[in-house]
Amino acid sequence: MSTSTSAHPVFDQAPATESFREAVLNGLRREQKQIPSKFLYDERGSKLFDKICELDEYYPTRTELAIMREHGAALAEAVGPEARLVEYGSGSSLKTRLLLERLGNDLAAYVPVDISKNHLLESAEALAEDYPSIPIQPVCADYTTAFDLPAPPRPARRTVGYYPGSTIGNFRREDARAFLAQIADTVGSDGGLLIGVDLKKDVEVLKAAYDDAEGVTAAFNKNLLRRMNRELDATFDLATFEHQVLWNEARGCIESHLHSTTAQSVSVAGESFAFEKGETIHTEDSHKYTLDEFSSLAARAGFDVESVWTDEQSYFSVQHCTVGNQTR
Ligand code: AVI
Repeated sequence: MSTSTSAHPVFDQAPATESFREAVLNGLRREQKQIPSKFLYDERGSKLFDKICELDEYYPTRTELAIMREHGAALAEAVGPEARLVEYGSGSSLKTRLLLERLGNDLAAYVPVDISKNHLLESAEALAEDYPSIPIQPVCADYTTAFDLPAPPRPARRTVGYYPGSTIGNFRREDARAFLAQIADTVGSDGGLLIGVDLKKDVEVLKAAYDDAEGVTAAFNKNLLRRMNRELDATFDLATFEHQVLWNEARGCIESHLHSTTAQSVSVAGESFAFEKGETIHTEDSHKYTLDEFSSLAARAGFDVESVWTDEQSYFSVQHCTVGNQTR
């Protein structure tokens, strides 16, 4: 199960990678054309996302960071002594570093979990250099499905999941519940979860965050068309698609689409797809929660929300959840 290609043995449970081709063809055959948002993150897409995180309009990253800076001591206290911290994602972010700095030597192990082995190793190695006294145990797995944790190198008093960035918002609500329930199983009865959750707010603020003036988010979304052209021999004319965002009140999410400005036919991997003028490909959902809505969702997954930290405007929240006794 372990591979030792570097100084950090990776606990390897990588699944067969889901084919971009299959996902795209299945998604484009549907009445509402759609492509899973995870495919937005090829190399260029990931760089564009990093740029999004620095935009004035995109408040989540800086707000979450500010909350973590301001409440670092309370967050560390919530995690508790000699904990094992399991991060859902590679842990390359500044937020992880803020937390590791606070928890320091007291951590029994830090376990980043990511599907991209390269990304995982790069970030594990960088963290190991900067925090040499923290045992780091990278796990290569699709964290949205059940995976095993390696035995910690020293006894852990509890296991705490860490899921920053409001990436939970990219799951449909029922999928979010199932994913949280899986985390509850992983961390076990004394376990916890520190999670970043973006909150409902003025719709204009939300729309601007997903449709910035500079057009970085538009480029991020349209990069999916480029990716299909490059990897699937597709014939998308980027000039005939526009980035479109809308607030779906019933679902409580910002939807991102690629909107065809003309009637056209596009070939993808040899298959032809007709677009009517105005038809869209749905590429992403970003769900927003009220504190009550998230607390109900967490409860349905077996978590009690213990503490919530927010910014002055209540734009974003960092929440500490513990595994409760409710029946799911
Ligand atoms: C990664 N995820 C939480 C981002 C979000 O806010 O939904 C992805 C994103 N898409 C456009 N801008 C940011």
